[in-house]
Amino acid sequence: MESNNRTDPNEDVRPSMVVTPWEVEGTIDYDRLVKEFGTQVIDESILSRMKRLTSELHYMLRRGFFFSHRDFELILDRCERHEPWVLYTGRGPSGQTTLGHVSPWIFTKYLQDVFNVDLYFQLTDDEKFLYQRELSLKDVEVLTYENALDVLAVGFDPKKTHLISDIRMSRDMRELSLEVAKRVTFSTARAVFGFTNETNIGMVFHPAVQAAPCFLPSRIAGRDVPTLIPCAIDQDPYWRVARDVAPRMGYPKPSGIYCKFFPGLGEGGKMSSSRPETAIYTTDSPEAARRKVMGAFTGGRATIEEQKRLGADPDVCTVFWSNYFMLEPDDEQINNLRRICKGGGILCGDCKALLADKVVKFLKDHQRRREEARKVVNDVFI
Ligand code: TYM
Repeated sequence: MESNNRTDPNEDVRPSMVVTPWEVEGTIDYDRLVKEFGTQVIDESILSRMKRLTSELHYMLRRGFFFSHRDFELILDRCERHEPWVLYTGRGPSGQTTLGHVSPWIFTKYLQDVFNVDLYFQLTDDEKFLYQRELSLKDVEVLTYENALDVLAVGFDPKKTHLISDIRMSRDMRELSLEVAKRVTFSTARAVFGFTNETNIGMVFHPAVQAAPCFLPSRIAGRDVPTLIPCAIDQDPYWRVARDVAPRMGYPKPSGIYCKFFPGLGEGGKMSSSRPETAIYTTDSPEAARRKVMGAFTGGRATIEEQKRLGADPDVCTVFWSNYFMLEPDDEQINNLRRICKGGGILCGDCKALLADKVVKFLKDHQRRREEARKVVNDVFI
């Protein structure tokens, strides 16, 4: 079994960072996370191979938003040999979609476009029903539909995209989940996910369901079709289990490519649907989005005079990171912004207003495509 980040029970210090599929807390030290999870860093050799294959590196790779991986080289090998592979990613429908969720999907769409591959997209309505006490089956059904609209609004090719609702899963998915579950002991699941005596037994089975799409393309094709999973690094525990059972099921191990966390608009923390005041939802009105951005935490000084004289600090600023990771793809613009900010050439209010304009434009375009998606969404579900 590949390593995980459970803390040493003999250590009596409280962990300053918690990263699990259900909880991300504290200041994230990505170097430490890579070591503890046992993933690899995306290095120069990977970047230059990607550059050769795609001619220009996507800004999320250039800027290290996607920073880590498992066996991504194997996918690059297949690209070079023109052998098939597919993308697999997903969403747990616990609420409306935020820009945080959309950030890895933008990169996933880019991969679909440049490599012309199919995408399997799992909506883990079962997981969210089981995990969130207050959600009913009816609630997660509605949210699954709502989130599926967001997936299509990102622009995935509907002919090459296959949505999976776990609650309405196919026979193939059901059988694969069972094959996985039979090979994972409770002791392994507890060690990887931290399950306790209070965890309901549905949650204990769920890792098998989330592993199943890793193998679905191979099962459907009747030959090896490995999956590449783009997602934030919080989902890695699932892939550890899936990679562990893959050889015993006769399937290729899934590969992963992982991003950092897109920040919330408050001081510290990822953008999360459970923190509504610091999250931008894809369904927010322009007024609501603008109000949230104008309330964002920045690296500004106490007074205008000080800011002009000493400059501000983009490295701690949620407005800067929102631009850097997602909303300002142009390198020249982002470098200018950093320079002007540090040199005291812009006040935080003005910088927030510029970001708010970009967010509102993004939302208007996304919401238009989201409405169009209603016509096709039911046909995209497996
Ligand atoms: P969920 O709904 O928590 O998250 C959906 C996707 O968004 C990523 N993510 C973020 N990425 C960047 N910044 C953030 N602030 C942020 N918040 C969430 C997650 O890593 C994920 O990629 N159990 C899963 C659903 C799932 C899945 C998958 C996810 C099923 N199969 C395969 C990824 C890949 C879940 O609840 O994701």
